[in-house]
Amino acid sequence: MTSESVQPVSGPSRRTVVAAVGAAGLSVALTACGSQDEPSTGSALAKTSDIPEGGGKVFSDEKVVVSQPTAGDYKAFSTICTHQNCPMTDLKEDTLSCACHGSQFSVLDGSVKKGPATQALAAKEISVSGDSIALA
Ligand code: FES
Repeated sequence: MTSESVQPVSGPSRRTVVAAVGAAGLSVALTACGSQDEPSTGSALAKTSDIPEGGGKVFSDEKVVVSQPTAGDYKAFSTICTHQNCPMTDLKEDTLSCACHGSQFSVLDGSVKKGPATQALAAKEISVSGDSIALA
């Protein structure tokens, strides 16, 4: 046995540096995860069972109405009135009415039922997967 087994002191300080870099990397990873919490297109909007056949349902936050003209066939339209852009929420059976000037639209095909609006509602893309309806 000799006294030549003295270790260099650089070992512990190198470990400290590695730990600090590791913590920084973790912080970056958490930030990246947080940014994915925002609502995005493609997220589920409704269940197919929420949409009555021959009628529809308004989703005010998304400004969209989803309808089911015939069994298993789903359509979606913007709920922004084509007259002067009022958002509409008043849906009775298949008719969406505008509170601003009284226009009425069919949610089955987006067509104008009553003026002053003259243009049909803008169609929205949706995808149906199993019993889930999502904005495309
Ligand atoms: S904005 Fe809807 S009827 Fe005028």
